[in-house]
Amino acid sequence: MTPELLGFQIAHRAMRGEARRLSVLATELAEGRQSADTNRAGAISAFIARMCATIHHHHMSEDEVLWPVIERSAGAEVDLRDLSDDHSALDPLLAEINGQATTFASTGDASPLVAPLARLADMLDEHIEEEERLLFPIITKYVSVADWKRVEHAVRKGSDVRVELPRMEEYAGPEELARLRRLAGPMLTVMLSLFRGGYRRRQRLVFGPLAGA
Ligand SMILES: [Fe+2]
Repeated sequence: MTPELLGFQIAHRAMRGEARRLSVLATELAEGRQSADTNRAGAISAFIARMCATIHHHHMSEDEVLWPVIERSAGAEVDLRDLSDDHSALDPLLAEINGQATTFASTGDASPLVAPLARLADMLDEHIEEEERLLFPIITKYVSVADWKRVEHAVRKGSDVRVELPRMEEYAGPEELARLRRLAGPMLTVMLSLFRGGYRRRQRLVFGPLAGA
């Protein structure tokens, strides 16, 4: 048996997808192609805060749990310094975006969010592509299933299943979703049916009426 990387892959895709969608949304708001009343501005601001916290937590779990597992399992096979440097470079950017999102909720002016969100989306694309290219084969080859479960547990820790599960559903392809259902069992279907509605309502409020349909 080898580690199941599907959950990680979808989590990466969701981070990239959300950052890119927010970058487009901020541009459209700043250019007046979309508008946000107080309610929507608050929802966008809260969405950004949650996204920043998720990305930070994901990278912290990689630094603290995944990197030691890889170093122990694969030893000299891999150099993690560039990926760690990316994590360090992302943190101040996330803090900046977080601060701007709070300001946006009260001013309604999205212009200061445009550049940092575009930068975040670009950095995540580059970082995650590199990470998957470099590490996924190493994890499959050297990391034990037990160690990998520990990593997944650390990444999931503290996340809100009401958001996390429908978010996975949104970013998984149909075949991946079928695989997730096989891996997680019938409880996943039950939980998705409980949380899907609230998640989609929030997606529509943040990204517009066609989102999360
Ligand atoms: Fe990473």
